[in-house]
Amino acid sequence: MKTSVLCIIAALTSTIAVGSALAAQKSGEALFKEKCATCHPNGGNIMNQKKQLKGIKVPKTIVAKIRTGGGGMPVFDRTSVSDADARAIAGYVVKTFKK
Ligand code: HEC
Repeated sequence: MKTSVLCIIAALTSTIAVGSALAAQKSGEALFKEKCATCHPNGGNIMNQKKQLKGIKVPKTIVAKIRTGGGGMPVFDRTSVSDADARAIAGYVVKTFKK
């Protein structure tokens, strides 16, 4: 029992280490869940029903909104979301929330 708990802890620790070393390579899905899903669960918008992410077709629009924020959405600068991460998130949003 004790050993298996330790194994789990060891596995988690190494995942975290690898995760931060390769931060730019996290999937768009993982990044979206981490940074956006609190306000945009399933591509919706808990703060403003009219500003959902569903149906957005141009990834650039999403990247721009990440950088400028506004209307209640925080600005994410390059220290919190790198350019590569912003593109990964945008790609995920466009292909996942079609309607
Ligand atoms: C604290 C809540 C919050 C978080 C976190 C948040 N957003 Fe938003 N988002 C909003 C609000 C509120 C709006 C409406 C803004 C407006 O009226 O311009 C919005 C609008 C948007 C829009 C424009 C939608 C439209 O139909 O015009 C996009 C795209 C978007 N968010 C993407 C993201 C992405 C990608 C992330 C994660 C990096 C994110 N948001 C994180 C609250 C949030």
